[in-house]
Amino acid sequence: MSVGQQARADRIRQMFDQVAARYDARNRLFSVDRDRAWRRRAAQRASLRPGQTALDLCTGTGKLAHELMSFVGPSGRVIGVDFSPAMLELARRREPQVEFRLGDVTRLDQPDASVDAVTTGFGLRNLVDRNAALREMHRVLRPGGRLVILEFAPPPGGLLMRAYHFYLSRVMPAVAGLLSAGEGSAYRYLAETVEAFPEPAELTQQLERLGFTVTAERLTFGIAALHVAVRRH
Ligand SMILES: C[S@@+](CC[C@H](N)C(=O)[O-])C[C@H]1O[C@@H](n2cnc3c(N)ncnc32)[C@H](O)[C@@H]1O
Repeated sequence: MSVGQQARADRIRQMFDQVAARYDARNRLFSVDRDRAWRRRAAQRASLRPGQTALDLCTGTGKLAHELMSFVGPSGRVIGVDFSPAMLELARRREPQVEFRLGDVTRLDQPDASVDAVTTGFGLRNLVDRNAALREMHRVLRPGGRLVILEFAPPPGGLLMRAYHFYLSRVMPAVAGLLSAGEGSAYRYLAETVEAFPEPAELTQQLERLGFTVTAERLTFGIAALHVAVRRH
């Protein structure tokens, strides 16, 4: 990672450390409680069975990791990785059954082909070196294992999507700024990263080049997307 990329990653980590305490409440508010259903769907699409192992990357406060626990059961294992100490502190308090590790998802300490599923919810968009992280996800998955990526999607055209663009880039930063001084910038960052993120078709191609077989679906009028990528044998 270059010095510039490292500096950017440090700023992103600091931002998540600062918003951690309010992160879950803001998600519920701004997604009108859809975020819970999206994570549940992502966990289902990982197709885990009791006793298996899942890795939830950019786990934040551990909400998606929590959903995975019900599929692997008490004999299975869910490991959550994040580089923000404040997010992980909340995750550890709220999800005691999950094993949380502080770490950078572009450099995982997990052995090759050692997990049955990798998930990431609203994480990929925040990564300074997305390709390095995707290569790591491919490396740690066993052949036939599933990578599930839940992420906001850049709004497609149409009136509804122009309204969504206004909500994302104007309403959310303004409301966040009113609720807590300084938080508006975190939501301007959110809008910028959503609009700069690749279309589902482009992300599909990137995953296929890395050795996955991919299906993608848009959720809730297309504002979020779920990619399910199976590691080819
Ligand atoms: C928008 S939050 C998503 C949290 C959670 N997965 C969810 O569903 O709400 C993005 C998370 O990615 C983490 N993150 C960003 N870049 C990272 C990296 N390179 N390595 C590890 N974690 C990273 C941040 O600390 C933050 O907790």
